[in-house]
Amino acid sequence: MEKYIVKGGKPLYGEVEIQSAKNAVLPLLAASILTDEKVVIHKCPRIVDVLNMVQILGELGCRTNFEGDDLSIDPSDAANHEIPSALAKELRSSVFMLGSVIARFGRARIAYPGGCDIGLRPIDLHLSGLRRLGVKIEEEGGYIDCTVDETVGADIVLDFPSVGATENIILAAVKGKGRTIIRNSAKEPEIVDLQNFLNRMGGKVTGAGTSTVIVDGVKKLYGLEYTPISDRIEAGTFLIASAMCGGELAVKNAIPENIAALLHKLREISCKIAIENDKIYIKSGKRLSPKLIETSPFPGFPTDLQAPMSALACVCEGSTVVVENLFETRFKHLAELMRMGADVTVRGRSAFIRGVPELRGADVFASDLRGGAALTLAAVAAEGESTVSDLSHIDRGYTEFEDKLRKVGANIRRIRV
Ligand code: UD1
Repeated sequence: MEKYIVKGGKPLYGEVEIQSAKNAVLPLLAASILTDEKVVIHKCPRIVDVLNMVQILGELGCRTNFEGDDLSIDPSDAANHEIPSALAKELRSSVFMLGSVIARFGRARIAYPGGCDIGLRPIDLHLSGLRRLGVKIEEEGGYIDCTVDETVGADIVLDFPSVGATENIILAAVKGKGRTIIRNSAKEPEIVDLQNFLNRMGGKVTGAGTSTVIVDGVKKLYGLEYTPISDRIEAGTFLIASAMCGGELAVKNAIPENIAALLHKLREISCKIAIENDKIYIKSGKRLSPKLIETSPFPGFPTDLQAPMSALACVCEGSTVVVENLFETRFKHLAELMRMGADVTVRGRSAFIRGVPELRGADVFASDLRGGAALTLAAVAAEGESTVSDLSHIDRGYTEFEDKLRKVGANIRRIRV
């Protein structure tokens, strides 16, 4: 196991460059098996979730190769329709493979997916959407077996705008017969990126970014080179770090409109924000408390920034109510923040945070990706020394997290224990 040793309390100054979005890259990797031709993903982050997905592609018979940050995938010999259970359990996004593996082979087999321990995370919406496209699904012994001759377009209404279900249905329908309409679809920017990727391959997808996505099936998709959008959650994490620690930070390669909800909150707590093309400048202000953080699907406040924002609320002046509407057990970081002196009460899906002037260094444990990032920010902001374990969670979603923090002035190092 690896952990961070952090000596906190110093302001952050300088510039941080944001990686390509984890949640954009993962469905693009799934989409790459929809063609027989070579796919190159530029600026592909070497985070563990991506490496696991690349391994799944390898198991399916694709040849993959990283050259610097460019990942090339040759899916011409892909022949296997079974996603290995060990990898599926590591990675929630393996479930996206269902849609594209079905589209390629007419069948797919996968173990129930794993991922961050932040709630039940059912996949009923994925499966009912696929059934509506004509896929026959059998669930037995922890495995899902799917078969179909050819998916057939359907009018599908999602009970909830699930990101993964929207993406999975698009992937299953893009080479199917006729028109598929997905109503109450999720509107996240990563779905727009998937649409752009598929259309560059020759697909006919419209409406991503709105609540109705339309997919007109095409016979063939082609290879391409593509650079995914930048990671709004990583950009948000560093902006929150700056708000917590003080100083002045420039966050480069960001897409400000994709984190409008966060920028609104940061301005509300008196941070000075300036935007220049793809750069967001932030200067921490008095840190008035944000009063209410309520997570909701895009364009609302993202659940993936709830943990870092809760850490910030711990050192704001006044009280904050945090309501987590997406995932039922996404508050585990709060118990750890209390070890650092945070004043928090949790009732169900709501947390009540009374700000304290400063956090104190402590030994804390990450139990999920964004919670781990939140604890690291708290350690960087806190007075004294902290350790943050277990870094395997953080490595799933951030590249060179500690290097980027160190470059802007944090005293943080990784050790193996
Ligand atoms: C994606 C993101 C994740 C983010 C989440 C919400 C990726 C790889 N991951 O996850 O980082 O936190 O969106 O923005 O893109 N639900 C069901 N049944 C389903 C599917 C979902 O009830 O079949 C529920 C979930 O339990 C949750 C809500 O819908 O309460 C949203 O989940 P969803 O949008 O599907 O999240 P993911 O795609 O798993």
